[in-house]
Amino acid sequence: MTTEIKIKILVVDDEEILRDRLKRLLELDDYEVTTAENGVKGLEEYSRISPDIVLLDIKMPGMDGIEVLDRIKELPHHAEVFIMTGHGGVETAIQALRKGAFDYMTKPVDYDELEINIKRALEKRVLQKKLDAYVTDMEAANRKLKIQGAQLLQAAKLTAVGELSAGVAHEMNQPLMAIGSHLEIILINAAVAADPKLKDKILKIKDQFARLGAIVKRMHDYSSGRSGTYLDESINRPIQDGCYLFSQQLKDHNIELKINLKEDLPKTKIDRYQIQDVSMNFLVNARDAIDDVFHQEPGGIIEVFSKDYPAHNCFLAGVWDNGKAIQEGTESELFNPFFTTKPVGKGTGLGLSVCYNIVKNHNGIIGFTTLTDKSKVFYFALPKNSEHQLADDEMIIPDINAEIKAMYSTH
Ligand SMILES: Nc1ncnc2c1ncn2[C@@H]1O[C@H](COP(=O)(O)OP(=O)(O)OP(=O)(O)O)[C@@H](O)[C@H]1O
Ligand SMILES: [Mg+2]
Repeated sequence: MTTEIKIKILVVDDEEILRDRLKRLLELDDYEVTTAENGVKGLEEYSRISPDIVLLDIKMPGMDGIEVLDRIKELPHHAEVFIMTGHGGVETAIQALRKGAFDYMTKPVDYDELEINIKRALEKRVLQKKLDAYVTDMEAANRKLKIQGAQLLQAAKLTAVGELSAGVAHEMNQPLMAIGSHLEIILINAAVAADPKLKDKILKIKDQFARLGAIVKRMHDYSSGRSGTYLDESINRPIQDGCYLFSQQLKDHNIELKINLKEDLPKTKIDRYQIQDVSMNFLVNARDAIDDVFHQEPGGIIEVFSKDYPAHNCFLAGVWDNGKAIQEGTESELFNPFFTTKPVGKGTGLGLSVCYNIVKNHNGIIGFTTLTDKSKVFYFALPKNSEHQLADDEMIIPDINAEIKAMYSTH
C-alpha cells in the first residue's frame, strides 16, 4: 500500500466564514488544510506543519499580513505565499509581491482562479526543487574539480622538482665522494694529527661534509620516488618503530611522548619503512616546533595516535604537538619541496614533501589540522583497500578535520 503525500495549505484569515469556505473547497480537492485566525497563530502553524502554500489575508487585527510575510521569509522553510486583499488594496499587494509573495488575489476569492494559481505555485516548487538539486550537483562537481586541480598542480610541481633533484643529487654524488676520501686522507696525515687547531678545523669541514651528504641523500630519496615494497602490515608497526627510534632524543629534549595507538588494527598493504619515515618526519617537525617554545625545558608534549576510521574506510594516524604555531600565511606551502621556515642550515624543506609523495603512493591523503594557536595535528589517512584512492572522496578532508577537532577538544 502506498500512502500519498498530500499538499499542505495554510489559510490565515480573521474572517471565520471565509476561512471555513476555503477549507471545505480545498479539502474537496484533496489538499490538507490548516487554518489560523490571526498572524501569531498563523506563524505557529507555519512552523508546526511546514506548508507548501499559504493563503494570507492582508488586513488582520494585531499582526497584519505583510508582517507575517516578513517573518515567514526569515524562516528556513519556504512556502509559496498568496496574499488576499480587499478591493483597493493593490498597493499593499504590490508591496507584498516585492517582499517575495508568489501572487495576490482580491477578495472574495474566486475558487477557479485560486485552483489555477495553486497549480502554478506547485509547478514552480517542482522546478525550484529541480534547480536546487542541480545547483547542489554543480557545487559538488565544482568542489571536486578544485580538489583535482590542486592535486594536479601539486603532482606537476613534485615531478618538476623531482627531476631537478635527481639531476642535482646525481651530479653532486661524485665530487662529494671524492671530497670525503680526501678528507679522510688529510685527517690521518701526520702534520695534521700533530696540529690540534688544524685538526679541529678539518673535523668541522667533515661535519659540514656529512650534512651535505645527508641533504644529497634526502634529495635522492625524494626524487627516486621509491617504488616501495608493499606488504600486509598494521600501520601501528612503523609508527611504533618510528617512536622507538626517536624516543631517546625526545627525552633528551625534555619532551613527553604519549602513544595512543588503536590496538589490533587490521592489516593493509604498506611499505613499512616509508610509513616509518612519515612518522619520523612528523616527530622531527613536532620536536623542532616544541624546542622553539620550550627550549628543551619541560612542558612540550607530543601525542601520536592511530585509529580505525570506518566512516571513510581508512585508517587515520597523526602527531599532535603543543609547539610553535604554523607560521601564518604558509599553510598552503608546507608540503611544497624546499619550503622551510627554519633557519638556514636547520631544515631542507623536503621532509613534508617526501611524506606527501609516500602517502600519495599509498593512495592516501596527508594534511594538518590547526586546533589552537599552538596545538595542531599532522595526519595521514591510508585506505583499508589499497586500490581505493582516498582523495576521490570529497568529504574526507572536512570530516577528518572535524574528527581530529573532536578528539582533541579537551586538550
Ligand atoms: N609540527 C609543526 N608545527 C609547526 N610548523 C610545522 C610543523 N611541521 C611542519 N611545520 C612547518 O612546515 C615547514 C615544512 O616542513 P618540512 O618537514 O617539509 O621541512 P623542514 O622541517 O623545514 O625541513 P626538513 O624536514 O627537510 O629538515 C616547516 O619548516 C615548518 O614551518
Ligand atoms: Mg621537517
